[in-house]
Amino acid sequence: MEYLRVTDESIKKGAEILKSGGLVAFPTETVYGLGADAFNPKAIARIFEAKNRPYFDPLIIHIASIDTLEKTANLSMQSKKTHDKLFKLAQNLWPGPLSIILPKNDKIPGIATSGLPTAAIRFPDNEAAQKLIALSSGAVAAPSANPFGALSPTRAEHVKTGLGEKVDLILDGGPCKIGVESTVLDITYDCIKILRPGGTPMEAIEELIGAVEGYDNNEQIDSGRQGLASPGLLKSHYAPDTPLTVLSREEIIKLPKEPNCASTQVNTENQKIAFLFFDGTAKDEWLSKQFGAQEPPDSFIVKVLSQSGDLLEAASRLFETLHEIDNFGVSQIFAQLAPRNGLGEAINDRLKRAAS
Ligand code: TXA
Ligand code: MG
Repeated sequence: MEYLRVTDESIKKGAEILKSGGLVAFPTETVYGLGADAFNPKAIARIFEAKNRPYFDPLIIHIASIDTLEKTANLSMQSKKTHDKLFKLAQNLWPGPLSIILPKNDKIPGIATSGLPTAAIRFPDNEAAQKLIALSSGAVAAPSANPFGALSPTRAEHVKTGLGEKVDLILDGGPCKIGVESTVLDITYDCIKILRPGGTPMEAIEELIGAVEGYDNNEQIDSGRQGLASPGLLKSHYAPDTPLTVLSREEIIKLPKEPNCASTQVNTENQKIAFLFFDGTAKDEWLSKQFGAQEPPDSFIVKVLSQSGDLLEAASRLFETLHEIDNFGVSQIFAQLAPRNGLGEAINDRLKRAAS
């Protein structure tokens, strides 16, 4: 495995590796991707192997311009109405954290889409990723670059730790700007539906094309594998190694003094526990309520996603902070839910998945 910072040279090298059937981990604005040439079934098989990912979980195909969309998608069967909506979305939200499910082009092998007649296509908003894709075959199949079921990587170091020698090249482009995965939107048929909340808020989509079918976190998480519209939406996904409990703002500030309030047990004996606050005011309220003017004991690891409660900042720090907490060897994590608007939906979805 080679580990190189992003430069024109290293990107070129990455493109050569992709063209010869290798695996390259690369930065995007959401999380790091583990890429293979989207037209090469053998190379794609290596992705599933490296991640230990079940073959029923289809990959996202990354492109580097709207003009190349039809190299990967087959738009000939779409109604005019849906076609217009697609282009409205692409022109306004691409490049960006939006994966669009479309009927696939025959050149995309079945292994990339787990045999589905559709493919998730995305034009990432990251210069290094765009150059890498453009210099290779123009389409790169890439899931998040983590072992299956583990936390998504938002830094190149996370990829190195998680996948190491299974990757031919890791391109280090620094921390990811957005930090949660793309929104997955199904626009195959006239009924348009969000399959996974993510970096593009539902509001931004509806502003452009009107009402779409939203995403029901509980329905998705509780239903398990069977009948899921998006096969990758398994119950326990994005999981840190530590048990995690999600709580509302009101619930978390009562812990650990009133443990029953959240029907939850806080065990502080000889064990470290982590409190992950969404915003600074919740943490301050908690501190003064639980500890007066004192600092909490060393057994408490306290983290805040965004001091000012900014959703973008909180999203960008979510996985990184969970990785950090994991490294402290805590026995429990209590996490405060974000407000439900904008990126809050994606943050809460990832927290709830980590909890299940
Ligand atoms: O931000 C992202 O989307 C990152 C970066 C690397 O682009 N990628 C990512 O990939 O999160 P992955 O494989 O971890 O998640 C892909 C999701 C899965 O939930 C999968 O089931 C869904 O997209 N998906 C892919 N193709 C699909 C299809 N044809 N129909 C329904 N869902 C699909
Ligand atoms: Mg993933």
